[in-house]
Amino acid sequence: MHDLESARDRIRPFVERARRFSGWQLDEFTPRPLEPSPPWSYEAQAEELLQGARSVLDMGTGGGELFETLSSALVGRAVATESWSVNAPLAAVRLRPHGIAVVQSGSLRLPFRDAVFDVVLNRHEELEASEVARVLALEGTILTQQVGRNQWHELRTFFPRMQDFGDLFDPYRNGFQAAGLTVVQARTHEWKAAYRGLGDIVFLLGIAPWEIPDFDPLGRDLSALLAAEEAFSTDQGIVLTESRFLLEAKETSGRRPVG
Ligand SMILES: C[S@@+](CC[C@H](N)C(=O)[O-])C[C@H]1O[C@@H](n2cnc3c(N)ncnc32)[C@H](O)[C@@H]1O
Repeated sequence: MHDLESARDRIRPFVERARRFSGWQLDEFTPRPLEPSPPWSYEAQAEELLQGARSVLDMGTGGGELFETLSSALVGRAVATESWSVNAPLAAVRLRPHGIAVVQSGSLRLPFRDAVFDVVLNRHEELEASEVARVLALEGTILTQQVGRNQWHELRTFFPRMQDFGDLFDPYRNGFQAAGLTVVQARTHEWKAAYRGLGDIVFLLGIAPWEIPDFDPLGRDLSALLAAEEAFSTDQGIVLTESRFLLEAKETSGRRPVG
């Protein structure tokens, strides 16, 4: 009992921080890689794509933090979507000075006309391949980095209700092809990384409520969290698997007029 109480006190600050969280700035919580990180840089590739683009969409921009850093490379018009009502206004304030409008919208149906974007960017945001293809102009490109299915797979034993969105790599890649796009990059990477402690894990699960439905770290999930901590603690920190994939696809079919 005493142990549970002290564990509760230990993680409570992280739970509270997650409750107050907005935007999408997570540098402080980035784990230390113990194996090589992805051999690509989404940010560098995105920046390069922006250089020749007349119109750009960033899907699920969060608080607009990443798109703001990329905006210095922008030469054309740009717009971002964000579905979460907390973040949409924050992103709007952050991106407006850079001439970027923010539309509050989900990502599976995009509120834009056909064939209007030269570049669509999407980091860690859900998508519908045919819908992305619909809004791409001729010669347009979608670049997306996604979290892979094996991300934190070690935790599943302890949290059987952890969501499994399936392996999205093949469906997204096949979806782009089925929609008439040419896939020019399809890469996956997994590596082990060390988190500073259980608090960081609790925080990251807290800000992603879609991962463990009704996550209750101070209540019914506390024992499972402590068991996972014991299972994966090393002298480097709590070691878990990271998983990412990168897809780039181009509209080359000429099936529709340039937007
Ligand atoms: C993983 S974030 C990616 C943000 C951005 N594309 C980036 O890479 O920095 C995915 C999205 O989840 C949204 N989100 C965060 N917390 C949420 C919550 N409690 N409910 C619904 N959506 C949330 C964020 O605003 C963001 O748009």
